[in-house]
Amino acid sequence: MKTKFFYMLLILGLFACNNVSEQQIGEEVQGIIVKTDKEYLEEGKMIAESTFKVLSSNLQQAMAEGGIENALSYCNVNAMPLTDSLSKHYNVAIKRVSDKARNQLNLASKNEQKIIDNYLASTENRKPVLEQNENGKITFYAPIVAKALCLNCHGIEGEILSSENNEKIKLLYPEDKAIGYSEGDLRGVWSIMFN
Ligand code: HEC
Repeated sequence: MKTKFFYMLLILGLFACNNVSEQQIGEEVQGIIVKTDKEYLEEGKMIAESTFKVLSSNLQQAMAEGGIENALSYCNVNAMPLTDSLSKHYNVAIKRVSDKARNQLNLASKNEQKIIDNYLASTENRKPVLEQNENGKITFYAPIVAKALCLNCHGIEGEILSSENNEKIKLLYPEDKAIGYSEGDLRGVWSIMFN
């Protein structure tokens, strides 16, 4: 039942997006070049990948320099500012959101939660998608999947995530929900809104 609903949403989504691009392929509306869905998808993927690279290389450097504890405070201070500066650089609004957020500023909105639910409904269909909001802005969404490295701070307490480190997480984020993940679990989604 859930899967049927998901496919319905997917099909509706595809039609909605196709309509946009059919009208607009290669067109210049009032001096603004309008991109095709394919171009938005490619740009979204490129931005998500390069943001991931920046975040994860900084994270790994902080871990090498001072272990998990140092990396935790590094992420606490720098994750948002790094993402914001990349948003400016690419002229988009980059967010990493989750249904189980650590930083409550990253908690998924209603709309983002729908995307998360679709990705959770079927692991085979975790492909990037585009959506257009009521203001006409296009948002790119893509899954963020937990890897082995992530479990140091997002894993099951007492396994890769030590109780000691979880205590430190709770001090920084009293409302933390972002633990208990295993490799391959959906940790959240990229939400990249184009201007
Ligand atoms: C050293 C600990 C640490 C590791 C390792 C780590 N994270 Fe996090 N993660 C954090 C912290 C701290 C935050 C909150 C950052 C903030 O305040 O903006 C966070 C936030 C996030 C968020 C934003 C949503 C939320 O819950 O606030 C996502 C998505 C995320 N991490 C995914 C990952 C993925 C994927 C990996 C592995 C590639 C990973 N993390 C590895 C500590 C870590």
